[in-house]
Amino acid sequence: EDPSSLPPRPPVVTIMGHVDHGKTTLLDWLRKSSIVAKEHGGITQHIGAFSVKMSTGKQITFLDTPGHAAFLSMRQRGANVTDLVVLVVAADDSVKPQTLEALKHARAAKVPIIVAINKIDKESANIERCKSDLAAHGVEIEDYGGDVQVVCVSGKTGLGMDDFEENILLLSDMLDIRAEPDGMAEGWVLESSIKPMGRVATVLVKRGTLRPGDYIVAGIVHAKIRSLRNEAGVEIDKATPGTAVEILGWKDDDPPAAGDQVLQAPDEGRAKAAAHYRIEQKEREEVIGQ
Ligand code: GTP
Ligand code: NA
Ligand code: MG
Repeated sequence: EDPSSLPPRPPVVTIMGHVDHGKTTLLDWLRKSSIVAKEHGGITQHIGAFSVKMSTGKQITFLDTPGHAAFLSMRQRGANVTDLVVLVVAADDSVKPQTLEALKHARAAKVPIIVAINKIDKESANIERCKSDLAAHGVEIEDYGGDVQVVCVSGKTGLGMDDFEENILLLSDMLDIRAEPDGMAEGWVLESSIKPMGRVATVLVKRGTLRPGDYIVAGIVHAKIRSLRNEAGVEIDKATPGTAVEILGWKDDDPPAAGDQVLQAPDEGRAKAAAHYRIEQKEREEVIGQ
């Protein structure tokens, strides 16, 4: 099938970078909300997935990732499900270990990068140093003849944020991201947790459409979707490609694990069988590993 005949889906953009370089603050600005203030200790603890309607009306799904060293696997996951990475570098701190690690994930995932040099409002900001440090680590930035765009911003004052938005929109338009909205759905678990209403997994849908009543399998767990909720906790009747959704209705004692692939099954029997097959496969691998 000719992929250009498929309908466009919202691009998935992951914000990555060193701890406290301002990822959540930039995302706040784009969403015009204030998540940072609500975070425990100002540290992002999970992959937040947010659907943002940009000034042009285009919908983009943003993933926020924790910069703390302990959350390596989450960043890895973020990079793997994304179409585009925004690498945030604080102008007063330049390239740091998690900057390099984020860069490594983005390269491994073979996705384009936009660099956002943030906190340029600060007295101690040194944009040139950030650029030369990035270049020294092999980032082929525009200023040095490469094709990686660099935007200088302040998530605090809003300086450069229009440019930043424009860059994201231009690059995502160029990528011309499309997906099949019909057929058996596929996605990835971003995170999962146990909430008062039950086991919940946040799933990024890559193709197909999920609806309440659908059968799915994720890792070794299956579900008949009881309900779907958007990031605001509002119940929705379908989840389309390029969007993240909270799914309730998991059958097992445990919710699926972050990073698990989600596949739709035509009926409960086949969802169960797929989960069972994976359990056996895991057991075989464990035996081989002994
Ligand atoms: P983690 O999720 O913990 O990795 O941090 P983060 O990268 O999401 O950074 P966060 O948005 O939490 O910002 C860290 C601190 O930097 C906060 O105190 C912000 O208010 C501050 N900050 C973020 N952007 C700017 C900026 O552009 N200018 C200034 N002066 N401060 C900023
Ligand atoms: Na922080
Ligand atoms: Mg954060």
